[in-house]
Amino acid sequence: MLSIYSFDDRRDIAIPGDQEEAIRFAVEHWISTAEEAIAKRSFFSVALSGGSTPHAIYQMLSQAPYASRLDWSKVYLFWSDERAVPPDHPDSNYHMAMKSGLSRLPLISSHIFRMEAERKIEANALAYEAIIRRVAGPGLFDLVMLGVGEDGHTASLFPHTSALAIEDRLVVPNWVEEKKSWRMTLTFSCIRQSKKAVIYALGDSKKSIVNEVLHASESSYPASRIGAPSKKSLWIIDNSAAALLRKRHPHSI
Ligand code: 6PG
Repeated sequence: MLSIYSFDDRRDIAIPGDQEEAIRFAVEHWISTAEEAIAKRSFFSVALSGGSTPHAIYQMLSQAPYASRLDWSKVYLFWSDERAVPPDHPDSNYHMAMKSGLSRLPLISSHIFRMEAERKIEANALAYEAIIRRVAGPGLFDLVMLGVGEDGHTASLFPHTSALAIEDRLVVPNWVEEKKSWRMTLTFSCIRQSKKAVIYALGDSKKSIVNEVLHASESSYPASRIGAPSKKSLWIIDNSAAALLRKRHPHSI
């Protein structure tokens, strides 16, 4: 049974079932968000995420029956974050998305905007912001895809990093001390101004952080900040990741 709950005034939660059912739901939601945007303004702009769940989403999206449901020439691909590596590197989020199957879709290559985080990261972050404003327009993205790390990070907005406080930019470089590396990431401001944000969390390893992020105060974890009363975020989680939430809300979730 498909269930979407209003978790609070800032967040909705969908718990479609096991891992496969959650991925299928995420793909259906992605496609219908794209169809709606294309019907309204003739294109769909999406910020893709890295991580294991998006990998499975891209695989399913690029196969039948989903691959034939959209006019892919109307789809504009961006990224919500990127590691400081070249596009053919196995850690690259761009590489992961393309290799998962998106490269087989009839996308227009000039509609694919990878974050160039491996060089001149500050200048490239500014340039990326300008492209978002020019291509996506004032409402920014139709959909921002996000994950949640076990430390509560989302996109490359890691706890205690400088990017968390930046409000006047859409895209910034972010030094992540625990990884001793640079990331490029969308800011909270960019995510907040975009039309929809979805956080995907699957599997047993996510059950504690999902429970904490959703119950902690808004300032506790980066992922706790996603969603506002005027524009709720959607969490798509599977049964395993929802296990502690269900224990805590036995009658409503
Ligand atoms: C990245 C991400 C990151 C990711 C989370 C969850 O580039 O690493 O964009 O924010 O979404 O770490 O990743 P998993 O889905 O693999 O757990």
